[in-house]
Amino acid sequence: MSDPVPAPFLPLSVPNVGGNEGRYVEDCLSSGWLSAAGEYVGRFEAAVCELTGARHAVACASGTAALHVALLTAGVGPGDSVIVPTVTFIASANAVRYCGAEPVLIGCDDRLGLDPDALEDYLERAWDASSRRVVDTATGRLVKAMMPVHVFGDPCDMERLLAIARRHELAVVEDATESIGSTYTVGSLAGRATGTLGLSGALSFNGNKIITTGGGGMLVTDDDDVAWRARYLFHQAKDDPVRYVHGAVGFNYAMSNVTAAIGVAQMEQLQGFIETKRRNRARYSEGLAGVPGLTFVGPPGGTDPNCWFYSVLVEPAEFGMDRESLMTRLAEAGIQTRPLWLPIHMQPPYAGCTVVGPERAVWYWERVLNLPCSSSLRPDDVDRVVGAIRSLARR
Ligand SMILES: Cc1ncc(COP(=O)(O)O)c(C=O)c1O
Repeated sequence: MSDPVPAPFLPLSVPNVGGNEGRYVEDCLSSGWLSAAGEYVGRFEAAVCELTGARHAVACASGTAALHVALLTAGVGPGDSVIVPTVTFIASANAVRYCGAEPVLIGCDDRLGLDPDALEDYLERAWDASSRRVVDTATGRLVKAMMPVHVFGDPCDMERLLAIARRHELAVVEDATESIGSTYTVGSLAGRATGTLGLSGALSFNGNKIITTGGGGMLVTDDDDVAWRARYLFHQAKDDPVRYVHGAVGFNYAMSNVTAAIGVAQMEQLQGFIETKRRNRARYSEGLAGVPGLTFVGPPGGTDPNCWFYSVLVEPAEFGMDRESLMTRLAEAGIQTRPLWLPIHMQPPYAGCTVVGPERAVWYWERVLNLPCSSSLRPDDVDRVVGAIRSLARR
């Protein structure tokens, strides 16, 4: 008897590059247009405008670069503060620090987005009616902007967040790095895409996103000045490219033509990826229904999300083990899963920041587990993960 064949490794999320990526990259190589001046950059930007309805899309090196420059163009600078959810990837907070500003960290609601109740409470206390400004009482810093994050592709409660921002005269920069293709279906935002609702929004095309260029980002905005200034800053703030005159401290944040060529090919496939992800989310949800101590996190009502990531909540007493143990046992079965990020207020660089209502964020951080979600995931892969989880659950 030979040894049983081990089940193949099932990764959390891998790129899906089965379209025109190779052909378009080859086109760049044979044309000699490798840098940002090539035509694929404009084609990629046009495709993102068409998808999102944004007036401008400006390509750049990463989602982090897009967030950094989005904040600068919103007027954020040294001495300021920016509202950031504590449930997010660290790049959201880092972008604030790059501007010399400090994040004010707010807890999450049950869709893992910026909690409007905690935010409203904080702003009521920090609002100075006479100067019509928000001043963080702990630090004396002026709160200039807020950065809602559409966590795992699920649109956050922008209708309320936008109303709160308007009342407190805050600029809104959306971290839509995970949510390209996600829209709202009801209310005043029906039909609108995440990333296009505030002053500007940031998209990411890093390796684990629903579409990827290996690394890349885009700033989307309807504001002509923001778009112009972002492009200027992404490209070293060149006033005279021949005589090397630079009117500001810019950045080497441009996207190359080769990167954009991959992006154009990925955009051609995005709708197909979203459909697969929706089907797989539904299959997971059905397959895991009724498992004691396990809740599959459903899409938020009133939205049509891109279904980038799939999360479950593990309640240790009822499930029979905690999230960490489940992650370890699934890894032993060749299935890669990941927890929620350590909340930002618990990250060493941000330990001293103002934090408001973080309890629910900590509760989710202890329980969330993200399941394999590649757009190339097959129904039998989903069934394998479901079977493995069911076999580990307390009966
Ligand atoms: C919520 C969030 N914000 C910001 C980023 C930063 O994007 P990038 O990796 O393209 O710099 C990411 C992705 O990595 C993210 O998931």
